[in-house]
Amino acid sequence: MSEILIQLIDIKKSFQIGKIKYEVLKGINLEVRRGDFLAIMGPSGGGKSTLLNILGLLDRADSGVYLFEGRDVTTLSERELANLRNQKIGFIFQAFHLVPWATALENVLLPALYSEKITEEKIERAHKLLEKLGLADKKNHRPSELSGGQQQRVAIARALINKPSLLLADEPTGNLDSQSSNEVMEVLEDLNREGLTIIMVTHERDIAQRAKRIKFLKDGQFLE
Ligand SMILES: Nc1ncnc2c1ncn2[C@@H]1O[C@H](COP(=O)(O)OP(=O)(O)OP(=O)(O)O)[C@@H](O)[C@H]1O
Ligand SMILES: [Mg+2]
Repeated sequence: MSEILIQLIDIKKSFQIGKIKYEVLKGINLEVRRGDFLAIMGPSGGGKSTLLNILGLLDRADSGVYLFEGRDVTTLSERELANLRNQKIGFIFQAFHLVPWATALENVLLPALYSEKITEEKIERAHKLLEKLGLADKKNHRPSELSGGQQQRVAIARALINKPSLLLADEPTGNLDSQSSNEVMEVLEDLNREGLTIIMVTHERDIAQRAKRIKFLKDGQFLE
């Protein structure tokens, strides 16, 4: 069995709105090994994105333990969290979140900008990633000049530029037609075959079934 990448123990998270406190995650336990491909399904409002944000170090749990590569991340400072996130975690979202004025190539290079100077090596890698994702002839297109599926593939390339150990995907096919969904899933399956660990939230059962395993999140807890 491969090494454990992520361990969550009794993770809890609430949001306070006015005087009312909403318990969104009510004790999440999860183990993810390197090379895993996990799909998370569940009803709207069940806490899937909240959990993904915690996994991606974009938000903190109120209590519980989160070990990433064996390291307790609950004690890290904001700066340490940002560095770890930038180096180790790639994100893709339903709405792509590309920068509209930047070309595909520039979008892919953006995370590299935050971590270090843009080196020749990074530029080379951005070209290779776009070629690998079938966008060799779209490198200088802006997002508005690309189809939804192409935009999502740019977003995947961007997520991979810093060679993350984990890819998080929040409804990556939610805005795509079935053919583009299929293309994006083929890319994710290929990346997983090459060893990338993926955690994906989806509403669509046929999409979830392309992962290695599925967990259901309902009312803040995983169903057994
Ligand atoms: N920043 C926030 N402040 C207050 N409440 C929040 C915040 N983020 C999420 N929530 C609440 O937490 C609950 C879970 O939201 P979350 O986005 O995790 O659900 P989800 O499972 O991803 O739903 P969907 O399938 O619709 O995307 C919702 O009731 C939501 O209103
Ligand atoms: Mg969500």
